[in-house]
Amino acid sequence: HKQPLLFEPYTIKDITFKNRIVMAPMCMYSSHNQDGKVENWHLTHYTSRAVGQVGLIVVEATSVTPQGRISAQDLGIWEDSQIEGLHTLTSMMKEYGTVPGIQLAHAGRKAGIDGEIIAPASTPFKEGDKEPKAMTKEEIEETIEAFRQGAIRAKKAGFEVIEIHAAHGYLINEFLSPAVNTRTDEYGGSKENQYRFLHEIISAIKTVWDGPLFVRISASDYSENGYTAEDYVQYAQWMKEDGIDLVDISSGGVLPVSVPSYPGYQVPFSETIKHGADIATGAVGLITTGIQAEEILQNNRADLIFLGRELLRDPYWPKNAAKELRYEIKPPVQYRFGW
Ligand code: FNR
Repeated sequence: HKQPLLFEPYTIKDITFKNRIVMAPMCMYSSHNQDGKVENWHLTHYTSRAVGQVGLIVVEATSVTPQGRISAQDLGIWEDSQIEGLHTLTSMMKEYGTVPGIQLAHAGRKAGIDGEIIAPASTPFKEGDKEPKAMTKEEIEETIEAFRQGAIRAKKAGFEVIEIHAAHGYLINEFLSPAVNTRTDEYGGSKENQYRFLHEIISAIKTVWDGPLFVRISASDYSENGYTAEDYVQYAQWMKEDGIDLVDISSGGVLPVSVPSYPGYQVPFSETIKHGADIATGAVGLITTGIQAEEILQNNRADLIFLGRELLRDPYWPKNAAKELRYEIKPPVQYRFGW
């Protein structure tokens, strides 16, 4: 049988993924000492999906500052002592044939920590939530520098892909969306200004990182006050000019509104941005079968398939998707006598 596109290797810069299957970043809230460090859970969880033959694993939202955590148990990359555990993690993932990636994140007004939280403006996410402090210019600069430091540590830890978390209503998304960003300085007002924070983060990371660089976006705010996938075509064009290799297309999370979800619900956003900005994209969201993934790739609606919950349910999803597509993939050598 002809090799399905899902199992064709994909190369960005000098990094090759053995297939188009990506494990989407998913918070495990498992740094139980609240020090942002890797624990046995992370080693077991991510390595299982490497053994399962996932091509690229994007490790969960990892905070570039203690203040940027979604919860106190989040992984962190804000100090050098966190590198060692992450290095063990990437070594194990590579040993079993996957490319290790990491999502660098800051939760902004959705941070779930004690103490002050920060955002582009002082409006909380929803009524009753903690009020964030509107960031000063200095705090903006410090945060950009924290992303740059995070990229340096990610490289030292052995990661081969960095994904900037600019989705789900977290800090960068808050700058990108007019529904949150009411600033009147050079970081708000026009689209160019709303993009400036992300632009400066990308530029700062690129001074220390020349590997594949992804951005995850929320391509729709599902609100008249927010942006749509068409608005994000413009942002994606700028990301391309800034040297981003792939945009990972999610949606929602900026406002407390419900998101209509059904199989492949975000794939049309990927399609719009891929063709509108002529940039590689990843599709994500209720993609669960090999046939569904193959359809998305063959019809040129995305370049990579990101899987979240389905990979939690089934670490061997690649093997089972191959079977569904009447194709066979090689097992890890340890399983060569039966798989
Ligand atoms: C997520 N998601 C997510 N997204 C992200 O960008 N960073 C993150 O750290 C997390 N954390 C997270 C934890 C858990 C437990 C889930 C289920 C989800 C969203 C995830 O990456 C994905 O976009 C969605 O789950 C939709 O894809 P699936 O699950 O339908 O394949």
